[in-house]
Amino acid sequence: MTSPAAPLRVLTGITTTGIPHLGNYVGAIRPSVAASRSPSVQSYYFLADLHALIKCPDPDRIQESTLAIASSWLAAGLDPDRVHFYRQSDLPEVSELMWLLTCVTGKGLLNRAHAYKAQKDVNLAAGVDPDHDVTAGLFMYPVLMAADILIFNAHKVPVGRDQVQHLEIARDIAQRFNHQYGELFTLPEVSIEEDVATLPGLDGRKMSKSYDNTIPLFSSRQQLQKAIASILTDSRLPGEPKETEGSPIFQIYQAFATPEETATFRQAFADGIAWSDAKAALFERIDLEIGPMRERYEALVGNPAEVEAILKAGGERARDIAAPFVAKVKQAVGLRRLVATGGGRTGAAAGGSRGDSRGESRGGKAGGGEALPVFKQYRESDGLFRFKLVDAHGATLVQSRGYEAARDAGRAVAALKAGGIDALAGLADQIEPLDEAGRQRLAEGLAQLLS
Ligand code: TRP
Repeated sequence: MTSPAAPLRVLTGITTTGIPHLGNYVGAIRPSVAASRSPSVQSYYFLADLHALIKCPDPDRIQESTLAIASSWLAAGLDPDRVHFYRQSDLPEVSELMWLLTCVTGKGLLNRAHAYKAQKDVNLAAGVDPDHDVTAGLFMYPVLMAADILIFNAHKVPVGRDQVQHLEIARDIAQRFNHQYGELFTLPEVSIEEDVATLPGLDGRKMSKSYDNTIPLFSSRQQLQKAIASILTDSRLPGEPKETEGSPIFQIYQAFATPEETATFRQAFADGIAWSDAKAALFERIDLEIGPMRERYEALVGNPAEVEAILKAGGERARDIAAPFVAKVKQAVGLRRLVATGGGRTGAAAGGSRGDSRGESRGGKAGGGEALPVFKQYRESDGLFRFKLVDAHGATLVQSRGYEAARDAGRAVAALKAGGIDALAGLADQIEPLDEAGRQRLAEGLAQLLS
């Protein structure tokens, strides 16, 4: 699990319900891409498309948003070879783990979750049923999020303030699980970037899709210019000193500019810069940073196959980690094979993983997933060679007569292995006389062995 030498695992999810705007860029994309470059950090960034289903009933919008968000992160410099960049729904183990977590999650804990409570309060105020319009998905949202985080034993989860409670719930669930089944999960810590200001939108309130006041991250230069032109200002005329405090133009500028540039801009406000000139300066400053990424974004959005391939590869790599871990969790809760297994197709008993990975052999019988009968050859005190077929529990199914030469015993074994019970006819006088029940036992043993 967590060894002290392991790099810090940082994980965050992006819900695929919209098209990224400047607020997303400044608040999440830019700092995350920068953090992912640190050699001491292992980043997991994923598209939370299962979460999107809770908020968005429009299938095409989810698909469109997935492409736009993935393309935005890649265009902003995320290197998919360095980080784990994947789609939540490409990891079925997340949903699987969610159920295991659900079974230790107090319902009362979820009753207190903000998103659910807020909806309930709206309903109560409206005098309708408290659970009106509440899906079980909304109610379970925090458990799915806990599964996202715990499946990789993330140490740090950078999120907005509105997600802090979800992190507390994830810790709570992890603790309960560890208490009940052993220390499987790392307790994740929330990380809020204090110096990443939330960006104001066109109307001065927080830039947010729900206020319809956003500036798209990637649009044409002309569209960006037009959006900036529509930022709300007061009616001060050119030459009149202007407030930087509470000015969306100033605050957005500050999010892109160096401290020196910001100081110059502040002075221009004091000197009475015209709003139109302030907007022009803002536009140029944003475009200086975003412009070079725009081309890459457009190329990606125009070639979904490339994005799909990147996400798929990321999903497979993530699964190589997630699948064996969830197998281990299943083992811990008692979802186990009924017999000790070796390697091979079903070898997931002790942290083996999907069929394509190398199952660990734990000294079980060679070959398939279940303990199988085996042929044993030996020489007895009378000097003759014999063989017997012994079942998984060591009981003898059939025994041969004595052979002068070991080779002949070997040939008989080979014939049975090749031909199954049908080979018995040619060997009848070489095997101890079998009654019907003995023949049946041999037939079943061979069938198992040869399946
Ligand atoms: N709930 C997060 C949000 O709305 C998105 C999310 C889903 C997430 N799973 C996560 C964030 C896991 C961090 C970790 O922003």
